[in-house]
Amino acid sequence: MKFPERKIELKDGRTCILRPNAPDLAEEMLEYLKKTSAETPFLLRNPDEVRYTLEDERRILADLLENPYVIMMAATVDGKVAGNGSISGIGDKRKICHRCSLAIALYEEYWGLGIGTAMIGYMTELAKEVGWHQVDLEVVAENKQAQALYKKCGFIETGRRHHALLFDDGTYHDEILMYKDLKEMN
Ligand SMILES: CC(C)(COP(=O)(O)OP(=O)(O)OC[C@H]1O[C@@H](n2cnc3c(N)ncnc32)[C@H](O)[C@@H]1OP(=O)(O)O)[C@@H](O)C(=O)NCCC(=O)NCCS
Repeated sequence: MKFPERKIELKDGRTCILRPNAPDLAEEMLEYLKKTSAETPFLLRNPDEVRYTLEDERRILADLLENPYVIMMAATVDGKVAGNGSISGIGDKRKICHRCSLAIALYEEYWGLGIGTAMIGYMTELAKEVGWHQVDLEVVAENKQAQALYKKCGFIETGRRHHALLFDDGTYHDEILMYKDLKEMN
């Protein structure tokens, strides 16, 4: 979906722009998908599983920009992509259409500057405007940095999914389930 750009000041004094992701970022996004999945083991995708062509990526971003039930937010610093976040509806069946799901990842060089906090703040504001009642997410049990971010942003832990992930090294990892209530949010 489309939404207004927002400028934020980072902890190091630089300016970051939060904007709708769009086809003009397709090339950078392909690089981003490969690099971020190599920098951290906590994302769902392995780097070799990024198989989109540039044309695919352009089309996907164009479709998402027109979809009123997907918030796809890029963060740029000095004109370059620093990270991406998304909130999308869980499904259109009446019993679940009040829920949406959040994902976020930044390049490692931009961690700890306040981008994650600002993106989640803005994305949840937009999610409330869409009309969703709550945001759900799953986070790898060992990913304490992301859990600290989510707690800071008002997410509450509700459960644990046993051995949700199997890494290439043969180890299993649990997921922590979290949610944020949008009904009470100002
Ligand atoms: C998780 C992630 C999005 C956090 O974004 P960020 O911009 O670095 O987070 P912020 O700078 O806004 O920090 C938010 C809070 O996280 C915590 N935090 C930040 N860096 C941390 C670190 N190195 N260790 C532990 N907690 C940390 C702090 O509580 C911080 O709050 P504070 O600013 O009041 O101190 C980012 O680290 C990232 O992209 N990680 C890799 C991908 C990933 O794990 N995504 C989540 C998958 S579920």
